[in-house]
Amino acid sequence: MGNKVTTAVFPVAGLGTRFLPATKSVPKEIMTLVDRPLIQYAIDEARAAGITEFIFVTSRGKGALEDYFDLAPNLEEELRRKGKEDMLEVLAKTNMDSGAIAYIRQHKALGLGHAVWCARRLIGDQPFAVILPDDVIAAEKPCLQQMVEAYDETGGNMVAAMEVPAEKTSSYGILDVENNDGKLLDVNGMVEKPAADESPSNLAVIGRYILSPNVLKNLDEMKKGAGGEIQLTDAIAAELEQKNKVYGYRFEGQRFDCGSKSGFLQATVSYGLARAELRDDLAGYIKSIAPTL
Ligand code: G1P
Repeated sequence: MGNKVTTAVFPVAGLGTRFLPATKSVPKEIMTLVDRPLIQYAIDEARAAGITEFIFVTSRGKGALEDYFDLAPNLEEELRRKGKEDMLEVLAKTNMDSGAIAYIRQHKALGLGHAVWCARRLIGDQPFAVILPDDVIAAEKPCLQQMVEAYDETGGNMVAAMEVPAEKTSSYGILDVENNDGKLLDVNGMVEKPAADESPSNLAVIGRYILSPNVLKNLDEMKKGAGGEIQLTDAIAAELEQKNKVYGYRFEGQRFDCGSKSGFLQATVSYGLARAELRDDLAGYIKSIAPTL
């Protein structure tokens, strides 16, 4: 039912102030989880879901991101000379086919909805995915792939959903759903960052979306929402007013909020333990300090 989704938008224009001073010179998305920058996890997930066109919405000071996806001829030559085939293989994953990746600038930080709207001409008139690289999701089947498979059956719009503690609703887009059970949720309403006592549920939107191009038209209105920003949540909620479908998708997997220091550290431990070559050492250390905590 849903058209094939081949384009993904990666909003990466944020200043990353929570990670200052590191983000003074390093884009947040280049910060490293074990040995890969955050953005690599997002790209790998997109590729697994069948994405072939990658659109980055960037801002000033994000040059390192563009370089990351470019060839590194000197480095590659040096590795070849030294016979380091394994490292060359690791690097190959960071390369993009010519023309597969596009960068567009968001000149002013006007909100997530505005960032996605900046990519409208590159997206065109087709459904598209949005991946927020801050939300890292460890899953057997990558989250966006789970969603693309569900979307094949449903069409419409789809957002990743997860329960959060009641006192955390003011950090998320929150769903008002028809029946709060099962994987696929019929959404009746969406609200960005509601206070706990005004929240329609504790089902939060996590940073994976599959959207109809009509959402870009809704963003044309440039309506300011929560925090005075142009919110993606509001533009998706406008779909409901137009009688278009929005589904919440309760994904399988563990989500880490790498937009926060604590979430980033938890992800580092978890992804470290998942690596065969690090596991014993790291687990030994954690066990050794656990009694003192
Ligand atoms: C954004 C969205 C919000 C969503 C969240 C998921 O908020 O606006 O609806 O729940 O991502 O991480 P941000 O974290 O950028 O404030």
